[in-house]
Amino acid sequence: MFENNTLNNNNKKILIIGLGQIGYSNAEYMSSIGLDVDGFDISEKAIQRALDNKVIHNKASNFRNYDYYVICISTHRPEDMFVPYLDGLYDIARKISHEGKTDALVGIDSTITRGTSEEIKKILGHRLHVVHVPHRFYIHEQKDHGVRQTRVLGGCEPCCVKEARYFYGEMLQIPLHIVSSAEIAELTKVVENSYRFMEIAFAEELKMVCDNTSVDFNELRNAINTKWNVKIFEAQKGIGGHCLPKDSQMFLEFSKNVLVTSLIGAAKMVDKQYRFHLAKRASQEMPLTR
Ligand SMILES: NC(=O)c1ccc[n+]([C@@H]2O[C@H](COP(=O)([O-])OP(=O)(O)OC[C@H]3O[C@@H](n4cnc5c(N)ncnc54)[C@H](O)[C@@H]3O)[C@@H](O)[C@H]2O)c1
Repeated sequence: MFENNTLNNNNKKILIIGLGQIGYSNAEYMSSIGLDVDGFDISEKAIQRALDNKVIHNKASNFRNYDYYVICISTHRPEDMFVPYLDGLYDIARKISHEGKTDALVGIDSTITRGTSEEIKKILGHRLHVVHVPHRFYIHEQKDHGVRQTRVLGGCEPCCVKEARYFYGEMLQIPLHIVSSAEIAELTKVVENSYRFMEIAFAEELKMVCDNTSVDFNELRNAINTKWNVKIFEAQKGIGGHCLPKDSQMFLEFSKNVLVTSLIGAAKMVDKQYRFHLAKRASQEMPLTR
C-alpha cells in the first residue's frame, strides 16, 4: 500500500500512544514502511485491534527505550466531546518524563490548546524534544487526506524541530510546513477547524431561514455555488464529531479576553439553534426544504 522506507531505521523504536483513529492510522502507515512500532492505549480493545491487524508489534508495558513517542490520544472530556480536556496528555507527559529515553522525540499529533507543548516541555525538563504536528486526517479520503498529507510542524526549540524534521519529514516522508513555534502549530489546527465550523454554521443559518420562508435551500445553494469564489456548504444534522465542536471551543478560550463579539461564538449559537430547529420540525412533522 505504501512505499518502503529506504532509510536504515531498523534500530529505531516508535511508540504510538493512543490507538484510535489517528493513532491506528499512524501505526498502520509506519508499520507498512517497515518501521518498528509499539502501541499503548487505556483501551484494551484499541490495543487488541492494533495487535490483531499487525499494525503494532507489541503492547508497550512501559515507556522505556523508545526513540519516538507519538501522542495521539483524545483531547476532549470523556463524558462530553464538546469540551477540551488535556489531563490525559499531561499524565502521559509525566510518564514519559519518568521513563522516556533522553534526547528522544515527543511528537504531539493530538489537537491541543495554545501553550500545551510548552507545558509538556516543562514537564519533561527538555530532556526529550517536543514538537506539535497536528493531524488533518479525513477517514473518507485517506489517500489524499490521510497520514501523508501536508502537515504543519512547530517545535519548542530548534533542536526539537531538527529531530522532528528527520522523523516526520525523512523517515515518514510527510510533506511539512514548518512554523516558528509550537504555539503557531497549535493555533493552526484550532483556527482551521473553527473556520470550518463557521462555514458550516452559515449553511445551517441559511437553511433555517429558507425553511421558515418557504425557499428551496438546495436550489438557492446550487445557484450561489456557481460563483467561482463562493462555496456554501450542505446543512446536515448539526456540527458533530469530536473535532470541530471541541476545537472551536479551544478557539473561544483563546480569544475570550480579546473580543466583545465573536463570529465563532455566534456560529456555536447558530448550530445549537439549528439542532433545535431540526428537532422541532421533526416533532411537528413539518417539511424541511430540500
Ligand atoms: N479523527 C480525526 O479525523 C482527527 C483529525 C485531526 C485531529 N484529530 C485529533 O487527534 C486526537 C485523537 O483523535 P482520534 O480521532 O484518534 O480519537 P479516538 O477517540 O478515535 O482515539 C483516541 C484514543 O486515545 C485513547 N486514550 C484516551 N486517553 C488516553 C490516555 N490517557 N492514555 C492512553 N490512551 C488514551 C482512547 O482510548 C482512544 O483509543 C484528538 O485530539 C483529535 O481532535 C483527529
